[in-house]
Amino acid sequence: MKISVIGAGNVGSTTALMLAQQRLGEIWEVDIVEGMPEGKALDMAEAGPIARFESHLFGTQKFDDIAGSDVIVVTAGLPRKPGMTRMDLLTKNAEIVGSAAAKVAKLAPNAIIVVVTNPLDVMTYVAWKASGFPKQRVVGMAGVLDSTRFRYFVASELGVSVEDTQAMVLGGHGDSMVPLPRYTTVTGIPITQLLPADSVKKLVDRTRTGGTEIVNLLKTGSAYFAPAASIAVMVESIVLDKKRLLPASAYLQGEFALQDVFIGVPVVLGRAGVERIVELELNTEEKDALAKSAADVKAGIKDWEGITRRVATK
Ligand code: NAI
Ligand code: 2OP
Repeated sequence: MKISVIGAGNVGSTTALMLAQQRLGEIWEVDIVEGMPEGKALDMAEAGPIARFESHLFGTQKFDDIAGSDVIVVTAGLPRKPGMTRMDLLTKNAEIVGSAAAKVAKLAPNAIIVVVTNPLDVMTYVAWKASGFPKQRVVGMAGVLDSTRFRYFVASELGVSVEDTQAMVLGGHGDSMVPLPRYTTVTGIPITQLLPADSVKKLVDRTRTGGTEIVNLLKTGSAYFAPAASIAVMVESIVLDKKRLLPASAYLQGEFALQDVFIGVPVVLGRAGVERIVELELNTEEKDALAKSAADVKAGIKDWEGITRRVATK
């Protein structure tokens, strides 16, 4: 298996290390910064003999080196800088992700693309459009991260093992994400039976702002350890055809009564990519929250389409 990670920054390089530790195959890191992907890959490869993984890790600035990859992880992009609007970020990252996805289509036409760059659900849509890939082979990572955060908060609150805690978070990767307490359990027991409503609400709110909590602490960037672990889980399920049921951003055509949008829903992830979308029974409040989140993502997609039209008519 050949796995290429585009963008060798904090998320990309931590992901490459985790994939190597899981011995999932040959790993390539691509970045535009001269020497940086090579340096990081060499440093990681040199850990192989003592960290007990084979040193099949390479760094490059040449996109051509991703040729024939089975899985591509896209983490390339800019973080939001002071003075930059969300729209500035969207414009710049859409350019980067769109151009990367078009190259992937030529060089690795059978790959599965896992998008990570923010704004996540819109960037996954951009990658899908630019690659021309079938919807099953483009998926966005966010739900695994948002739900692992929820799992951690629940386990800490109850004083139980994270291993026994499962969580489900639907929706877009943003303030309007939809953590689902009714589907969040400790060994099968919904947390709504284990915690008072106000504690559940606090954990839900903390999950929604989980990314911001880390940004505020770090001050110079955003989270990357939990994001990289989340990406690695998805890549493992694809490479080993594990068919794990995980929340991820997938293209909807009527599922959950939503159309033409990438948004976080439970999917079965295997060698073919998004092999199935699993529909959950939602109550009115949950349905409304998901519809609102989808409307937010659609507004982002519309903004991106507006930018592309303006560029095309220039
Ligand atoms: P970073 O700034 O550390 O790394 C980004 C890397 O992309 C840089 O090394 C940069 O040189 C590279 N890059 C820029 N343009 C490129 C191009 N055209 N080709 C190849 N590489 C290029 O940022 P970090 O922390 O790694 O985050 C990366 C992205 O992932 C951001 O957009 C961030 O918001 C997003 N993210 C998304 C998460 C999710 O849950 N979906 C979680 C964490 C981060
Ligand atoms: C996060 O949730 C930045 O999207 C990223 O940490």
